[in-house]
Amino acid sequence: MIKIENVSKTYRPDVEALKEISIAIEPGEFVFLVGQSGAGKSTLVRLLTAEERPSSGRIEIGGWDITRINRRHIPRLRRQIGVVYQDFRLLEQRTLYENVAFALEVCGTSLRAVHSIVPQLLRIVGLEDKAHRYPKQMSGGEQQRAAIARALVHRPKLLIADEPTGDLDSVTSKGIVDLLTRINDVGTTILFITHNRDIVNMLKKRVISLHDGSLRSDKVGKYFI
Ligand SMILES: Nc1ncnc2c1ncn2[C@@H]1O[C@H](COP(=O)(O)OP(=O)(O)OP(=O)(O)O)[C@@H](O)[C@H]1O
Ligand SMILES: [Mg+2]
Repeated sequence: MIKIENVSKTYRPDVEALKEISIAIEPGEFVFLVGQSGAGKSTLVRLLTAEERPSSGRIEIGGWDITRINRRHIPRLRRQIGVVYQDFRLLEQRTLYENVAFALEVCGTSLRAVHSIVPQLLRIVGLEDKAHRYPKQMSGGEQQRAAIARALVHRPKLLIADEPTGDLDSVTSKGIVDLLTRINDVGTTILFITHNRDIVNMLKKRVISLHDGSLRSDKVGKYFI
C-alpha cells in the first residue's frame, strides 16, 4: 500500500524534518505514528498527500510513485487518501449534510449519487440524526465524526488521521478510536498519528515512532519514544 524509501525532507534553509526514513505499510494495516512535537509526523502526512515533495527518496502509494507525480494527477491521488485533522476543518457555513455532500459535488458526483452516499456515510459515523446541524451546533467528537464521514466520500483505501483526538476528552477519543477501528475492519488502511499513550496502549497495533526526524522504532505493542 505505502512504500517509503530513504525519504528525507529539508525545509529551507536547513530544517531537517525527516532523515532517511523507510517504512512499508501493507494494505489493511492499522498503524500508529507517534513522536514528540516536531518529530516530523505531519511532514510525513504532507508528503503522502503530495502537498510537499521529499528532498530525496521515493514514496509509492498503491503502486504509484507519488514523488514524480504529475500535478494534474494529484486530485486522483487525493481521492484515494482520506485525511482528518485535529481541528476538523469543516465548513462553518454549511450543515453536516452539506459538508459531506460538498466533497462529492466538487468532484462532479451526480446529485442522485450524493443523496444516496451522504446518508450512508452519516450512518457509518453515527450522525444520521444530526444531518442538518451546523458545525458550531455539534460537540467536538461529533465534528470529528463529521470530518471522518467527509474523508470517506471517495471510499479511500487509506485514511490518515493527524491527531484526530487531540482536543477531545478520553471517552470521546475512545469513540473516535472505535470508529477508526471499524473502518479498518472493512479493509481501509489506517495511519493514526497521536501523542496519546493511552490510546496507543489500548490497542495492540503496530507503532512507528519518529524522533527528531529519524525512525526510532517500529514494532507491535506499546507507545515508545
Ligand atoms: N513549512 C515549514 N517550514 C520550515 N520548517 C517546518 C515547516 N513545517 C514544519 N517545519 C519544521 O519541521 C519539523 C517537523 O515538523 P512537523 O510539523 O512535521 O512535526 P510534528 O511531528 O507533526 O509535530 P506536532 O506533534 O507538534 O504536530 C519541525 O522542526 C518544524 O518546525
Ligand atoms: Mg503535527
